[in-house]
Amino acid sequence: MRLDALLSRYGYCSRSEARAWVKDGRVTATGRAFSSPSDKASPGTVLVDGEPVEFPDGLLVLLHKPADHVCSHDPGEGPSVYDLLPPRWLMRNPVVTTIGRLDKDATGVLLITDDGDLVHRWTSPKHKVAKLYEVTVDADLPAGLAALFASGALMLEGEEKPCLPAQLTVIGPREATLELTEGRYHQVKRMFAGQGCTVTRLHRSRFGDIMLDGLAPGEWRALHRR
Ligand code: URA
Repeated sequence: MRLDALLSRYGYCSRSEARAWVKDGRVTATGRAFSSPSDKASPGTVLVDGEPVEFPDGLLVLLHKPADHVCSHDPGEGPSVYDLLPPRWLMRNPVVTTIGRLDKDATGVLLITDDGDLVHRWTSPKHKVAKLYEVTVDADLPAGLAALFASGALMLEGEEKPCLPAQLTVIGPREATLELTEGRYHQVKRMFAGQGCTVTRLHRSRFGDIMLDGLAPGEWRALHRR
């Protein structure tokens, strides 16, 4: 890959700025100095300001999403989960994106990647990746809710296909966990709302086999690519 393409692909600078970066000696490889932005190198071998290129094989991180942040690149929507990440990641091409979304008030496991195939694989209902939600509601859970959610017959308002079977585990009169293998718009809130309960707390504690494992709200950690 040309150095100018590499620097811009990984979010360091634009292709036009790359000439100055190379000329200033900021871009090196072990035992080698580059002389031109058109020099070729592979991302895994290049150092920028003495540091290896970040996530040369693609980026996958786990963010503990705090409340009051939206999963959107639109600055008009208020504080965003992307504000919690290093700005360079937003300059990458392809840009980083969330694997599925959590509502503004929801918290917990949020995966971020620059790999469109991974987004597709982990959000498509066909692949049935299980997501576990902790839910608190404002009214006592009706009897028979677990059987209804597990039935594969629950219809959400305005939709034509029933929800896939989901596993509800009741923890208390107004508390439960719900495991889903699909991710429709506001799905958890709509499933409970249809049964007369408003969700007052929603926390995703697991996505596939990925859990927070002590990660604090607002913090992220890199995951091994899968
Ligand atoms: N279901 C919802 O209703 N909201 C979320 O953020 C995730 C799942």
